[in-house]
Amino acid sequence: MQQLYRFGLRPLLFNVLKADPETTHRQTIDALAWLATEPNKGGMVHQPTRLAAQAAMAGGFGVRSPRLNQTLWNCAFDNPLGLAAGFDKDGTAARAWPLMGFGFAELGTVTYHPQPGNPQPRMFRLPADRAALNRMGFNNQGAAALSARLASLWPENKWPENHYPVPIGINLGKSKITPLDEAAEDYRKSFELLKTQGSYFVVNVSSPNTPGLRSLQAKEQLAPILETLQIANTENKPLLVKISPDLATEDIHEIVQLAQDCALAGIIATNTTINRDDLTTRTIAATGKSVTEESGGISGAPVAQRSTEVIRLIYEQTQGSLPIIGVGGIFNADDAWAKITAGASLLQTYTGWVYEGPTMTKTVLSGLLAKLDEHKLRTISDAIGSAHRLHS
Ligand SMILES: Cc1cc2nc3c(=O)[nH]c(=O)nc-3n(C[C@H](O)[C@H](O)[C@H](O)COP(=O)(O)O)c2cc1C
Repeated sequence: MQQLYRFGLRPLLFNVLKADPETTHRQTIDALAWLATEPNKGGMVHQPTRLAAQAAMAGGFGVRSPRLNQTLWNCAFDNPLGLAAGFDKDGTAARAWPLMGFGFAELGTVTYHPQPGNPQPRMFRLPADRAALNRMGFNNQGAAALSARLASLWPENKWPENHYPVPIGINLGKSKITPLDEAAEDYRKSFELLKTQGSYFVVNVSSPNTPGLRSLQAKEQLAPILETLQIANTENKPLLVKISPDLATEDIHEIVQLAQDCALAGIIATNTTINRDDLTTRTIAATGKSVTEESGGISGAPVAQRSTEVIRLIYEQTQGSLPIIGVGGIFNADDAWAKITAGASLLQTYTGWVYEGPTMTKTVLSGLLAKLDEHKLRTISDAIGSAHRLHS
């Protein structure tokens, strides 16, 4: 199946049809949403097709092993590989992610005010670098719409004791129309709408595509946001912050210290980079412009090493006491292993899944089990941060 995607569907989409990445993305989300719709919804006609597809998805893409299980923040994670934020901003295909083998899914970024995002085109493939460039700008239907969608996708859930098949994270961003000095209130209003519905929440201050957003990573600006959210956090939900790979080491240290002071549950490392230094791609084919002229964040292979380095720094500073979700350039089990042994408890992927296709979860997870055997470790928890113990 992986070969079918790699040598059939992917070249057809990327090279022959030259399908617009954003259109392909929307079609993928719509198809997955349809396939994963609750069996008794949407009429009888497609019922057998849909049920068969769901069974095939659940059996075909997942890897189940108690050696991959973890409990973090009172949430049970069947496996450590999750879907990264930005793929399913509005939660449209939220029911599909467990069927695709993911151990969790992070929805959003969602903002308090619905917003269209930046003008198109705003998403580009850089195949020579196994990368993507995007400047979506938090296009999303808003926090209230996400809340309504989650309630309709899982009508059987009893809020706040929701029961998702896998943990569902919700990534919060600042609305573009909200001034930076009112950011805390903007995040709080989204959080109030959604706070019973997420398994964990992420304060995203690291997207390069909302003007000034990354300045909110500075301690003086981040502290009031985190404090405001923790005051509103009556459900005691795990709150994490997602950081940029472009921060200097001192800035990372400061954020980690602040995260500990504000009793955050963890850190997500990392978002996309604005660095273009090591790219092979010179020109973006779709626009004919140089890659340095096109604004936006780079994801995929070029961010892998730096993201792992950031994970290592955080793990060292906290001596492994603060859970890290590692994201950036994971395509295979080697990439995943590097992040886990550097200190990540959980992982996420976006660009790798686009390049490797739907069998990626199975390949990565079975590869991780093989790594555990190779290193004579029993469970994935035993591997977290193990590179530090080797070196010390
Ligand atoms: C098209 C696109 C849109 C993204 N949108 C978001 C977003 O809305 N919020 C967010 O926190 N990260 C967003 N990201 C960043 C990813 O979640 C991830 O941190 C980054 O891409 C690195 O992982 P990867 O190399 O596996 O893609 C986006 C990435 C891409 C490629």
